Amino acid sequence: MSTRLAGKNIFLTGAAQGIGLAIAEDCLREGASLFLVDRDGALLAETVARLDAPPERLGWAAADISDSAAIASAMADAAQRIGPVNALINNAGINVFNTPLETSEEEWQRCFDINLKGAWNCCKAALPGMIAAGGGAILNIASTHAFTIIPHTFPYPLAKHALLGLTKSLALEYAAAGVRVNALAPGYVETQKVIDYWNGFADPEAARAQTMALHPGRRIAKPAEIARAAVFMISDECPFMNAACLVVDGGLSMLQHAV
Ligand SMILES: NC(=O)c1ccc[n+]([C@@H]2O[C@H](COP(=O)([O-])OP(=O)(O)OC[C@H]3O[C@@H](n4cnc5c(N)ncnc54)[C@H](O)[C@@H]3O)[C@@H](O)[C@H]2O)c1
Repeated sequence: MSTRLAGKNIFLTGAAQGIGLAIAEDCLREGASLFLVDRDGALLAETVARLDAPPERLGWAAADISDSAAIASAMADAAQRIGPVNALINNAGINVFNTPLETSEEEWQRCFDINLKGAWNCCKAALPGMIAAGGGAILNIASTHAFTIIPHTFPYPLAKHALLGLTKSLALEYAAAGVRVNALAPGYVETQKVIDYWNGFADPEAARAQTMALHPGRRIAKPAEIARAAVFMISDECPFMNAACLVVDGGLSMLQHAV
């Protein structure tokens, strides 16, 4: 085990699968203690059993990040289980994809409740402890949707744009208190969410091939490749990185158009 994250007590959301699971695995290897949250309690329980870490280094709770009371209670449980939370990774998020005029009130609400307010609920629960302790680190998993738009994915990109706004706002408010707040923007990552997206097309295999072809390297990211960047950003190796957004998309967002 490495010690890059020794002393880090990390509250990580959306940890049962996908990018969150890869971050959990990497952070454990790097010496952190973790408290994992996911709304899918059954899947999270299986994941925790597979991670197989000592109980003082790995706790968990089934909670929905859009429920501020449940998150406040999970944060208190985390402090009991792994010690005061000095790092927060807001990873849980959902796709809500439609056209602007076809988006229902319910879709709009669900998208912002989870992708934006969920992260804010966790920040609000974690910040007082970090400020009292003299510092901490928050990492928001945004997306290239935080600064570019793919038609027919409304209103997901709006919530991710706002998550970047939340990142900058909190970063400036609490920099003097020693709290760093940054965002990580993955492009396409091979997780269930992306597989579900391809499965939404009449020909999922063709949709998958089209996604690969869009990319300069003709492939998309593996969750573990996003986790590597998250470990760096939440570690003490970049103490002056604040209000930043690190893009990890294989170069896709720099491409004007394919030749
Ligand atoms: N996969 C990608 O291509 C990609 C690209 C850019 C950004 N992202 C972002 O990365 C994050 C993780 O995405 P993923 O692809 O690993 O997703 P995923 O669907 O594979 O996993 C997300 C996990 O979050 C949990 N979750 C969802 N809503 C929740 C809620 N309200 N409360 C608690 N837990 C909740 C789910 O149960 C699931 O276990 C998301 O914020 C997503 O927007 C993903």
